[in-house]
Amino acid sequence: MSEPTIESVLHEARLFQPPADFSQQAHIKSLEDYQKLYDKAKANPEAFWAELAEQELHWFQKWDTVLDWQPPFAKWFVNGKINISYNCLDRHLTPERRDKAALIWEGEPGDSRTFTYAQLHEEVCRFANGLKQLGIHKGDRVGIYMPMIPEAAIAMLACARIGAIHTVVFGGFSAEALRDRMVDGKVKLVVTADGGWRKDAIVPLKEQVNKALADPATASVEKVLVVQRTQQATEMQADRDVWWHELEPTLSADCPAEPMDSEDVLFILYTSGSTGKPKGVVHTTGGYNLYTHITTQWIFDLQATDVYWCTADVGWITGHSYIVYGPLSNGATSLMYEGAPRPSNPGCFWDVIEKHKVTIFYTAPTAIRTFIKMGEDLPKARDLSSLRLLGTVGEPINPEAWMWYHRVIGGERCPIVDTWWQTETGGILITPLPGAIPTKPGSATCPFPGILADVVDLDGDTVGNNEGGYLAVRYPWPGMMRTVYGDPDRFRRTYWEHIPPKDGHYTYFAGDGARRDEDGYFWIMGRVDDVINVAGHRLGTMEIESALVSHPAVAEAAVVGKPDELKGQDIVAFVTLEGSFSPTEALGKELKQHVVKEIGAIARPGEIRFADALPKTRSGKIMRRLLRGLAAGEEISGDTSTLEDRGVLDRLREGT
Ligand code: WTA
Repeated sequence: MSEPTIESVLHEARLFQPPADFSQQAHIKSLEDYQKLYDKAKANPEAFWAELAEQELHWFQKWDTVLDWQPPFAKWFVNGKINISYNCLDRHLTPERRDKAALIWEGEPGDSRTFTYAQLHEEVCRFANGLKQLGIHKGDRVGIYMPMIPEAAIAMLACARIGAIHTVVFGGFSAEALRDRMVDGKVKLVVTADGGWRKDAIVPLKEQVNKALADPATASVEKVLVVQRTQQATEMQADRDVWWHELEPTLSADCPAEPMDSEDVLFILYTSGSTGKPKGVVHTTGGYNLYTHITTQWIFDLQATDVYWCTADVGWITGHSYIVYGPLSNGATSLMYEGAPRPSNPGCFWDVIEKHKVTIFYTAPTAIRTFIKMGEDLPKARDLSSLRLLGTVGEPINPEAWMWYHRVIGGERCPIVDTWWQTETGGILITPLPGAIPTKPGSATCPFPGILADVVDLDGDTVGNNEGGYLAVRYPWPGMMRTVYGDPDRFRRTYWEHIPPKDGHYTYFAGDGARRDEDGYFWIMGRVDDVINVAGHRLGTMEIESALVSHPAVAEAAVVGKPDELKGQDIVAFVTLEGSFSPTEALGKELKQHVVKEIGAIARPGEIRFADALPKTRSGKIMRRLLRGLAAGEEISGDTSTLEDRGVLDRLREGT
């Protein structure tokens, strides 16, 4: 693990108060109100969450016990019966809300669809009946490998409705990555599309599924349900593949929501860690429903008339929690966009905001940095006056990008919520509440009520103000992951054993460095493990190394992140070659392409550096700290006395 280091933000002194008119109508109206909620939750977390669960959600049957905590395994709302699809749809079928837009969708080529709550309910019921007809039962795993089209959200809600466990795989992942996830999750059915639009090109998703399922290891997959999106040809395998548009007309729109146990698994979502293959993060029903519901409501300050747009892909946790479940559970209007800024339409985000009068906009710092580079003219040419709140997620936002976002997109009137969280946490843990907490550019500010966040050292002691440490959480919360799918031991080792228990409290280790300033504000300093964050996408260096060494030319590989102006970090791979291969530009290209094939384009190394040896300690461990320094072009200082062969370092520096 690397030591967290304090960055230049240490001296950030700008403070932005919530605008008075915003606070007046907000759910949480003042710092005092936040403090009261925070104190109340801290004094009795179970009572705090139980009160909200009762007030905010529909339960078929009430729980007996709020929290059963057998560290590190938590159960929330034990014996409660609930269905998140019911909470997202059925309970909004009131005369006032049934005709309100639940989902507004914009396709990349300019097509557009809107679903009211009544229509979305109907579609989801039909889809759920389709799943049933194809042999899916409660507890079965369903893979979802989709473009950003409404059917992706519909498939998720349909699974939840009948108690099938969804595992969404980002459409940018390769056939190989898809195969690994289908095998690990023992998936029974895959929902996909013929293709999807990505930056003016068609991604042939069904072809990737065909490739993935050609591997006999995926034998658990019995059926593939294919939505038609791009109309290009695909080979349909008889007995296995079914077109959605052929199945749909045969299905009834009546499908009651299955009462699920609060702790029944809702979904598995794979994410990268510092060791081994991506792990299946398991989230369950009741706690996740409550946590995503209340965080969406308070952090995005949802009001009845808002048009809320989160630009994430449903393949990531942000899409799960803050495009689908959180907003719909609140009866909000959630916008979903298939496209991304691209050379043929760099201003497309601003077009979407203007067209749909978006009021809340939630995106990633890497996108903001790209907008900055494209210049102010694009957003200025559009009417963005409908916006009232902005958010960011995925990586630390540098104060200057924050200021640009505030000034150019927010017109200096919109508060910004910089939200820190992870796939594992289910929902946002550290964030401003926009009507209550004054913001400082670059700080995610304060813990959400009920979240006992801390900055600690490896003994579990809280470090002093403005000292770097490890970000940790001292008490369970309803949205937390429950385990690693099929590997509870890995769950314990990864998150609960880095920090020893303190006063009987087990401590969740997030894998991020942080510091807390004199006002109690958190400043997140990035990962302290071997996870890198490239354009807001989380990747394990080990995964990329495994991909590289699976190429016949590669003997050994070490992957590190280097600072990148746009992406936050870029991937640099140090590679040594097998005897008969020589380092050529063509081989470098081939290796990059090989990583794309093994994982997906998001993992393409920015740079391959060939070396005759990697710097190792005498015990044979690769000295990543040195490689990180080299990748960043820094002078290598500090202790290199454990280095086995000092000549290696000189040769690497010279770029052999
Ligand atoms: C990083 C994404 C700084 C962090 C929701 C975390 C952030 C990882 C922020 C989780 C933020 C996320 N400020 N860093 N506001 N939000 N991160 O699982 O390193 O894809 O551990 O979840 O993203 O990435 P994941």
